[in-house]
Amino acid sequence: MSNIVSFINQKGGVAKTTTAINVAAQWSQLGKKILLIDLDPQASATRAIFGDNEFENTIYDVLTSEIEAKEAVVHSESFGIDVIPSEIMLSGIEIILSSKFGRESILKRGLAEVKDNYDIVIIDCSPSLGLLTVNALIASKDIVIPVCPEYFSLKGIELILETLKNIHTGLGHKINVRGIIISKYRNRRIVEQVIQDLRSNYSIPVFNNYIPDSIVVEEAHHKHLPMRKFSPKNPAGLALANLAMEMWA
Ligand SMILES: Nc1ncnc2c1ncn2[C@@H]1O[C@H](COP(=O)(O)OP(=O)(O)OP(=O)(O)O)[C@@H](O)[C@H]1O
Ligand SMILES: [Mg+2]
Repeated sequence: MSNIVSFINQKGGVAKTTTAINVAAQWSQLGKKILLIDLDPQASATRAIFGDNEFENTIYDVLTSEIEAKEAVVHSESFGIDVIPSEIMLSGIEIILSSKFGRESILKRGLAEVKDNYDIVIIDCSPSLGLLTVNALIASKDIVIPVCPEYFSLKGIELILETLKNIHTGLGHKINVRGIIISKYRNRRIVEQVIQDLRSNYSIPVFNNYIPDSIVVEEAHHKHLPMRKFSPKNPAGLALANLAMEMWA
């Protein structure tokens, strides 16, 4: 896997943030140095990790070139990772970026001087394929796509692949889909159906470790802890740990 990986799906609530922050915490336990970038104006990752703390510097300031990325980095002891937090101001940034030169590669340029300090930089994207997410894609070589089988749509995957194709032809940047993460599943039969649909339509790999639906995941967010600390033996906690190993391989 390359140094920067984005967690992407324009569908909301499919566990992008949950998998991103927990995989990050698992990798950190393996001794890897991880930077997580919260690129969502909802700031769900920032809140899951730090609660209601406010930050002087955020990814907004990096994207508007007010500061260098390293000035926005904060450390989370409990997750064992560095984070560039988000804030609600980010919801207005697309208008600001849209008039800038090289507007699709502003994040990439912003991260250029910090990325080599880390084994991996993880970008948690918002549920959109707008300019902010395009910036994440241009900064990344790899993406992973979390999906929930209970409300899975092939059309949604097609839209992501179409965006990747447009970025390749329009901007000359090739992105590798590392795999699909099956998350929040309740019924294994539905999972098998989704995997069959994916296999017969595309050649995207699906990670073998599926994350079951568990209320404990929500509780861990409220306690601002990774699953590996909050409930490591819970089936969702175990699955996240195994997924992190599988993704690293
Ligand atoms: N395995 C799981 N079991 C139960 N609940 C889960 C699980 N994974 C995530 N959730 C819950 O589902 C909700 C959505 O998860 P999350 O915020 O990770 O999705 P998202 O794709 O990042 O959403 P958004 O598109 O809004 O950014 C959250 O309340 C989260 O706690
Ligand atoms: Mg999210």
